[in-house]
Amino acid sequence: MSEIKPDINLIQKKLLEVKHPELKKDIVSLGMISHLQPTSEGIDLNIKTPNADRRMQIGLEAQIRQVLSKMDGIGKIKIKFEVDQNFKLEDGNRIPGVKKVIAVGSGKGGVGKSTVTANLAAAAVNAGLKVGIMDADIYGPSIGKMFGINGRVPLKVEDDRIFPIDKGGIKIISFSFLINDDQPVVWRGPMLGKAVEQFLYDVVWGELDFLFIDLPPGTGDVQLSLAQLIDLDGAVLVTTPQDIALLDASRAAAMLAQVKVPVMGIVENMSEFICPNCGHSSAIFSQGGGKKLADSLKVNVLGSVPITLEIMKSGESGLPVTLQEKEGKVAASYAGILKNLQTSIAEWD
Ligand SMILES: Nc1ncnc2c1ncn2[C@@H]1O[C@H](COP(=O)(O)OP(=O)(O)O)[C@@H](O)[C@H]1O
Ligand SMILES: [Mg+2]
Repeated sequence: MSEIKPDINLIQKKLLEVKHPELKKDIVSLGMISHLQPTSEGIDLNIKTPNADRRMQIGLEAQIRQVLSKMDGIGKIKIKFEVDQNFKLEDGNRIPGVKKVIAVGSGKGGVGKSTVTANLAAAAVNAGLKVGIMDADIYGPSIGKMFGINGRVPLKVEDDRIFPIDKGGIKIISFSFLINDDQPVVWRGPMLGKAVEQFLYDVVWGELDFLFIDLPPGTGDVQLSLAQLIDLDGAVLVTTPQDIALLDASRAAAMLAQVKVPVMGIVENMSEFICPNCGHSSAIFSQGGGKKLADSLKVNVLGSVPITLEIMKSGESGLPVTLQEKEGKVAASYAGILKNLQTSIAEWD
């Protein structure tokens, strides 16, 4: 037997050539691969199907053997079919290996959308999940800075695929990695669409429970490109409690509804001020705005986050508070937001 161990990423890439005979989509994107593991002899592969259609299974097995047997050092290919009646074959645009894609949006900038994205991702890592962030805010990409990656960085590219940067267990891709700080951003139309498409499909995300997308504020080209290119499982809207922020947020919600992206809930950011000296909480903006917006959209408030000095400082320190102080108050509120988000997603499924 050959000594060369087959690379799982390469196998997964090869399997993209295996198409479901009816849906004409590859079995990876359809989520049919439930297990892929190298063994001492070769590889073990489990294929999930919604029913025990033997003809279909034989056809798929033949295709799989054909594409994989050409690979060096592949060894013995063991294929098992798992019938799962609850399994739905999804006929849509999915990133292979990525379970849920959640966009984080807001009506206007400065409400803390990127801060929420970063901390929500951190909460998911703390909960033992596999997470990625795609910073699609072309006008003010700030996810890089929040994780201590400043400006342009060389990205590893192999076989035309881009490797994200890993920070604290979070896989990150941002437009800011590609451009110099002083370069004006002029992404338009087709070029923007192409860039968004590359960030979704040409990045080696691997297996992810969640991919969070930090959207540009408002309603624009990126939102439209995304909705066309990928099935977003849902959106989280971030708002501050003031009425004006709420009005903008409802516009963003209307836009999401138009492109059929369900809003999973509202995060009310900067909902109160907690004094760093005495711990006293005061509402510096009007209160209950997040709830008002949630009611008008008939969704839930996933949680609220106070204004704190530590959150503000962490915007510069290169690590979200939720990763810095896993037992702290802020981490606890993000853990709650994540839980409520998971509940909302489960209700939509
Ligand atoms: N809960 C909070 N407490 C304190 N500062 C915050 C909080 N949320 C956001 N900020 C700060 O507000 C500014 C804007 O937040 P950011 O996440 O960049 O907003 P957006 O992405 O909506 O433009 C940043 O300096 C950030 O550190
Ligand atoms: Mg931002």
